[in-house]
Amino acid sequence: MATFEWTAAYAVGVAKFDQQHQTLFRTVQEMHEALGQGHGKDVVGKILQRLIDYTANHFAAEEAAMEKNHYPALLAHKAEHKALVTQVLQFQKEFVTGAPGIAAMLMPFLQKWLHNHIMQTDKQYGPYLNEKGVH
Ligand code: FE2
Ligand code: FE2
Repeated sequence: MATFEWTAAYAVGVAKFDQQHQTLFRTVQEMHEALGQGHGKDVVGKILQRLIDYTANHFAAEEAAMEKNHYPALLAHKAEHKALVTQVLQFQKEFVTGAPGIAAMLMPFLQKWLHNHIMQTDKQYGPYLNEKGVH
């Protein structure tokens, strides 16, 4: 049983983005398991890099769909993506330098990072994009 699992509660109503969110959750879960197996910077750092790369693609895909459909809150959503990228890159920097206790903070950080953005911000584009025929 995965500790960090995508459930229908996270559905934003656009299949492509729900699938991408599922991949993000799976990657965070993979990281949780790697940490549990006692892996350090080498393995966990690689997964974190993969998460960051995948996130960049995901954010770009969301932004393209919102832009194409003239989503009114596009700028605010983009600003939030930018802030999230800055946060995770800062976190990665601290992780790579081995700041004390950083590994223990990784999961809570990523969970909150993903959870809050999907629940509070991504979910808002769902009904709008659905109305524009994007499902
Ligand atoms: Fe998203
Ligand atoms: Fe987003």
